[in-house]
Amino acid sequence: MNLRILTCAAAFAALVPAGVAAADIEAGKKKVQEVCAACHGIDGGQPTTPEYPKLSGQYPDYLAKALRDYKSGARKNAIMAGMAAGLSDKDIENVSAYFYTQPSVLASKY
Ligand code: HEC
Repeated sequence: MNLRILTCAAAFAALVPAGVAAADIEAGKKKVQEVCAACHGIDGGQPTTPEYPKLSGQYPDYLAKALRDYKSGARKNAIMAGMAAGLSDKDIENVSAYFYTQPSVLASKY
């Protein structure tokens, strides 16, 4: 690895939220492919129907909180309660980090 790549990697790491740096993004990708892609799309940006929210590019702490809330019942949705029930805390961290690293498809006002 040359110095320029190292410098870029360091600069990029500085922008990444702490939870993402600790997460296993590859494991998150695998989990998404196995379970979540059927509705949210493979990168979270191409949901299979408009009723399913877009997740790519979303803040990882927002996604993780949503998943923890589905799991605890603080946020109620029959579909996602079932999905979140099967996720460990580490899975939640990993899938949230994976979605965050995918290109956002949300509209930008400016
Ligand atoms: C059968 C379809 C389906 C599957 C599979 C599915 N979801 Fe969802 N997901 C939904 C629906 C529908 C909602 C909206 C629920 C609501 O209104 O709260 C949602 C909402 C979410 C939200 C909240 C988004 C927001 O903006 O608040 C997150 C995060 C999420 N899903 C993550 C996941 C993850 C991670 C997986 C895989 C482990 C997964 N979903 C699998 C249908 C699905």
